[in-house]
Amino acid sequence: MTGQSYIFDDHAVDAEFRRLQHIERNGDYYSQNRLRACGIGPGARCLEAGIGAGSMARWMAEQALPDGHVFGVDIDDRWFPASEIAGVECIKSDIRAFDPGPESLDFIHARLFFMHLPDRADVLRQMMRWLRPGGWVVIADADISIPARVTSPLGELWNELNGRFVRAVSKLGGDATIASRLDALFLDAGLVDVRADTHYSSMLTKDPDMGAFLVSSFDAICSLCDVSDVREEDLSALRASLPTGENVSTFYHLTVAAGRRPT
Ligand SMILES: C[S@@+](CC[C@H](N)C(=O)[O-])C[C@H]1O[C@@H](n2cnc3c(N)ncnc32)[C@H](O)[C@@H]1O
Repeated sequence: MTGQSYIFDDHAVDAEFRRLQHIERNGDYYSQNRLRACGIGPGARCLEAGIGAGSMARWMAEQALPDGHVFGVDIDDRWFPASEIAGVECIKSDIRAFDPGPESLDFIHARLFFMHLPDRADVLRQMMRWLRPGGWVVIADADISIPARVTSPLGELWNELNGRFVRAVSKLGGDATIASRLDALFLDAGLVDVRADTHYSSMLTKDPDMGAFLVSSFDAICSLCDVSDVREEDLSALRASLPTGENVSTFYHLTVAAGRRPT
């Protein structure tokens, strides 16, 4: 990754970058498969909305080159140096202020993005106007509200903390359960050939990356939510046990929805 020592020397920033990379390793396979099935290829004009650490923008550019183009739009430009690649035009902007022009795009992808948007139906309709007739929108989100199977009181604490995260997102106008209703959102917007597939990835595979993803999610939840009523030793014990599956047997529920603008 270029620029890592320059831009990511603050610990919290570094931790967030690693969390974004875990999101990529757990989700790229499913988003890429769907975009491939929708026909992404050379010459495609694409948008990655909320590029994060950049792997999907990079991958779309690889598919679209030599004469395609990818807009990578994010409200936060901290990771842009790491995302730089030929064919990706990184733009610091709120998605609502971005305008590539009507009927200018073939593919739009966004992941773990719609759950944060209060006006997601409006943003989806806006995205449809950017698509040429027949162009595809592919949205991936995780339903955080689905409880994990727990085997101890510490495991119940995990579900309690997840519940707090869901409520914190909703206080900000987002919806951490939107993944389970992406199909309805797409149909309401008038997209056609809609499909939505949910992938359950075990967190108990002893894959160190999955363990690290759980821990980074736990840290993000604790930094976003009030956990002052929880004993410090319980938080530490739960955090340490997450990669082992000792208290929590959890699955990551990622829904990938795709739909086409009518021709
Ligand atoms: C959870 S991260 C996911 C990153 C990436 N999509 C992925 O899945 O690897 C959400 C990203 O969306 C960006 N974002 C959130 N709201 C946005 C908005 N209104 N306009 C543009 N970007 C936004 C954030 O800055 C962040 O980079």
